[in-house]
Amino acid sequence: MTVTNEPGSAPRTSPEIGGIGHSVRRKEDDRFIQGAGRYLDDVVLPGMLHMAILRSPVAHARIRSIDASEAQAMPGVVAVVTGELLAGYNLAWMPTLSGDTQAVLATDKVRFQGQEVAAVIATDPYIAHDALPLINVDYEDLPAITSPQQSLAPGAPVIRDDKEGKSDNEAYSWEAGDKAATDAAFARAARVVSLDTHYPRSHPSPLETCGVIADVSPITGQATIYMTSQAPHAIRTVFALVAGLPEENIRIITCDIGGGFGNKVPVYPGYVVATAASLVIGKPVKWVESRTENLISTGFARDFHMHGELAIDADNRITAMRASILSDQGAFYADAQPTKFRAGLFHICTGSYEYPAAHVEARGAYTNKAPGGVAYRCSFRVTEASYLIERLVDKAAHEVGMDPTEFRMNNFIKPEQFPYLSPTGFVYDSGDYHTALALAKRIIDYDGWRRRQAEQNVPGATKLIGIGVASFTEVVGAGNSREYDILGIKMFDSAELRVHPTGKAILKLGVQTQGQGHETTFAQIVAEELGIPYSDIKVQYGDTDNTPYGLGTYASRSTPVGGAATAVVSRKLRQKAQALAAHLLEVSEDDLDWEPGRFTVRGTDKSVSIQDVAFAAYTNHPEGMEAGLEGVTYYDPPNMTYPFGSYIVVVEVDTGDGTWKVLDMVAVDDCGVRINPMIVDGQITGGLTEGFAKANMQWITFDDDGNRIGSNFMDYLIPTAWETPRFRLGATVTPSPHHPIGAKGVGESATVGSPAAYVNAVVDALWSRGVANIDMPVLPHRVWGALHGAGS
Ligand code: CDP
Repeated sequence: MTVTNEPGSAPRTSPEIGGIGHSVRRKEDDRFIQGAGRYLDDVVLPGMLHMAILRSPVAHARIRSIDASEAQAMPGVVAVVTGELLAGYNLAWMPTLSGDTQAVLATDKVRFQGQEVAAVIATDPYIAHDALPLINVDYEDLPAITSPQQSLAPGAPVIRDDKEGKSDNEAYSWEAGDKAATDAAFARAARVVSLDTHYPRSHPSPLETCGVIADVSPITGQATIYMTSQAPHAIRTVFALVAGLPEENIRIITCDIGGGFGNKVPVYPGYVVATAASLVIGKPVKWVESRTENLISTGFARDFHMHGELAIDADNRITAMRASILSDQGAFYADAQPTKFRAGLFHICTGSYEYPAAHVEARGAYTNKAPGGVAYRCSFRVTEASYLIERLVDKAAHEVGMDPTEFRMNNFIKPEQFPYLSPTGFVYDSGDYHTALALAKRIIDYDGWRRRQAEQNVPGATKLIGIGVASFTEVVGAGNSREYDILGIKMFDSAELRVHPTGKAILKLGVQTQGQGHETTFAQIVAEELGIPYSDIKVQYGDTDNTPYGLGTYASRSTPVGGAATAVVSRKLRQKAQALAAHLLEVSEDDLDWEPGRFTVRGTDKSVSIQDVAFAAYTNHPEGMEAGLEGVTYYDPPNMTYPFGSYIVVVEVDTGDGTWKVLDMVAVDDCGVRINPMIVDGQITGGLTEGFAKANMQWITFDDDGNRIGSNFMDYLIPTAWETPRFRLGATVTPSPHHPIGAKGVGESATVGSPAAYVNAVVDALWSRGVANIDMPVLPHRVWGALHGAGS
């Protein structure tokens, strides 16, 4: 069922209870706004030492020798750690979450500029940094490989010669779909539309950089590790495997996290070095990255070279799609990937459209760049996939001479076709794409803008209006354990709920907030299910000793998986509460009616509140019943969830200097049932801003020697409120049929969906001038070059 409700249908609970559908204020903001958040760098432990990392100045070189004696002799320096030293403990290399290996500190070669070469441990952070230049490394330069095309060319120097028997630079190759059926459909096509495009390398750049404080007791073996991690439990397991520490002695604590966006999923070498150093020295060791370190060495995203084709029949219906992609993985294939899907979930690239055949070929290459491939606000490559199909569909509409919204309406999967099996094997749970696009058109007055465009874009005009559309479908909520795991750990998630005697509760989660508002929204799910006011429910996460095991937060999986676990555990408790209520009211359980927060004897005014029941669970429970009101659920979803949306952007392009500005934009999102509509709107607004940044200004480049251009916020541009356009938001609600509360994820939607809309808008403005494609970021010189034939 689709409801075009803005902002949402009436909540079932009162505002005081604050269950699903209430835009209650974020509980966590009280401490954030008043400067009382506790981030990693706020933690100071007695006797704590500080670590600084020496990084490679070059992209590719053999290490002839490292002389650390001068640094070692500097007053205040406690130790200098090198790869050779780590090798003595079998720690010079570590496994990555993609099943590759990565150097902790370089021993044989450096493979990207910024790679970790040595670390100084000192009594204060300034001494540690001052000692770095005293470490003398003798490098023998090697040619740098800075593109995947160069990397896979015959005869290219092998970057990963550490891997036994490796004779080329291929990081992975993978395919999905039915090649024969797809080729046959293309052979029959009335028209083939194709597009070559590059989704450029970008960096998530959370406000808080990465860091760690490792506190390992050589006496007890207890390792307490404070870490900026999006997945603390998985990290604990990886640490146990890498360092050989018993897992019960490892406690990961995440503190408050100042944004993750995928940047805080991987295990970085600094974490391992600090832990090893603390173990050997017997004191806590702190390492906090500088902004430049974060920008040059931690996980990058995207960098996909993509070729896509659509087969179109005489009725302008798509009959097949094929895509071949080449990803630049950097020197180590390091980020989390579900084991079965080597290009993440790129094969969702068939998008919101109905056709029987598709085929995807994906290859990844090692290059002399920092490890790439993090799911930057993205469900494992969904962003790149969505960009490709939405650019392709717009190009197809232009080529067949149809309005891009009509072309989409003509090809969308219809509401009655859900659940829909895509040609690459996903089962879309629910959707109503026609309604979302129609609503977006209505909100922005699409027809009005088209009229204005026709009036303004006359021959000779120098200010051209462009209207861009993107109607994306995502796949979020990894995932069902049949298909999704990281390093073999199944991607379920968990919730533990304890209701105290006074009716207040604590909810402990396996997922990990980085600012998304989980302390509020997860409390709202419990409020909905048990009728306990959301303000009486404390939400805890990010301390592996005190929360149930989970795979963490990335790829918008918290609500689809952790949120489902929360609803299920609440329902378990409600069942016990019903038995307790029956005991208190001296009736059968079947005679009770439930409304959020209260059991009533049917047909009477006799009732007990959930708080009365909670008290009884500890003071007056019936003979034979266990005391207490608590439980834990590990939730394995039957399927992923498929949020979707339709975005329309209107831009004005100045053909004189190639600049463009957004005149209007609307985003209609459908994430199923919205727990907190205000928080959802906040997530979408942030994502639209990030999408705008990708389309407009964010660009990471390298020179031919592999030197990173732009390692600070002067060069890598983050949009401020000044540059950011205003957005209009709309909503449709198509619940997920298998999610206990009908919710789908939303955290990444707008980052995924919006870049194509911006680029489509610029291309739409320039189509009549012969421009069919401009790669992101759509910088003025690229627009100008496309218009004036100066290349890009
Ligand atoms: O995994 P992550 O938290 O990044 O993404 P998410 O599950 O999409 O949730 C982002 C925020 O939006 C959380 O606070 C969710 O509880 C909230 N949300 C919501 O209120 N309603 C939805 N249908 C989806 C998310």
